[in-house]
Formats: sequence, structure tokens, C-alpha cells
Amino acid sequence: MHPLILVLNGPNLNLLGTREPATYGHETLADIAELCRRTGERHGLAVEFFQTNHEGELIERIHAARGRCAGILINPAAWTHTSVAIRDALAAVELPVIEVHLSNVHKREAFRHHSFVSPIALGVIAGLGSNGYRLGLEHFAQLLKGIHHDQ
Ligand code: DQA
Repeated sequence: MHPLILVLNGPNLNLLGTREPATYGHETLADIAELCRRTGERHGLAVEFFQTNHEGELIERIHAARGRCAGILINPAAWTHTSVAIRDALAAVELPVIEVHLSNVHKREAFRHHSFVSPIALGVIAGLGSNGYRLGLEHFAQLLKGIHHDQ
């Protein structure tokens, strides 16, 4: 059986495609889900894709990943900058976490420069649009095959 990677998306990402396209592009969340599914297929990963606008629901999905998933790729969206609870949930399940953002948060408003998640993440990808999801999944595939990159 292929290792399972959980791809999680936080609030407002369900609006992708129509939401501030100059910042987030024209792809919809369904397009990104499909990209993740295809990337997983190509690299021997099973991918579970989930989006919610409810913080507690995201936390419960993170808890349920323990012992079931090999890693979590997460775009916490606005909760990146506000949620100690999501960071604590991710730390609690002791799985490798890759944080991804469509936009380059460091080039935007100052309140987007701090992430509660980054300190517990294996790595962070920002500003590469949906390609960031693909690259994050490819990194998990390499990691699971035992291919290591020196820092
Ligand atoms: C985002 C960046 C966040 O600052 C913002 O709140 C989002 C999306 C991104 O993917 O670029 O909703 O995570």
C-alpha cells in the first residue's frame, strides 16, 4: 500500500479561482486537489485532500492522522498567523509537516510574516503558487524513499 500524505487547507481556500486572483491565481481548489492526486500517483503516494473553514475540524483531521499518515502538507491560510492550537495539534501527532503558501507571504503585509506553524515544520514553501503543493509532495516521496538532502 502507498504511504498516505494528508493535504490540508485552511479558511477561504475553497474560494480559490475567484478570490483575489492577482494574489492567488486562477486555479481552483479542485484543480489543486487534482494536481496533488496526479503527483501522488506519479510518485507512489496516496493523497487525502481536505479543506475547511472551521478550525476545530482541521484540528480533528490532524489528530486522526496519527499512525495513519506518513506526513502532512498544510496550507493553514489565515490560521498560519493566528493559531497556536493548529501548531500544537501538528506538534502532537509527531508527523513530518511541510507548510505551503500560494503567495509569497514575506512580500505582503507584516501580519503575514509570522507563522506559528513554521517552527515545527520540516520546511516551508511560499510564493510558488500551486507548484508548491507539487514540490512538497515530491519532497515527501523522496523522504519516504530514503533520499536525504543535506541542509
Ligand atoms: C495563504 C497566505 C495567508 O496569509 C492567507 O491568509 C491565505 C492564503 C497563501 O496560500 O498564500 O489565506 O496561506
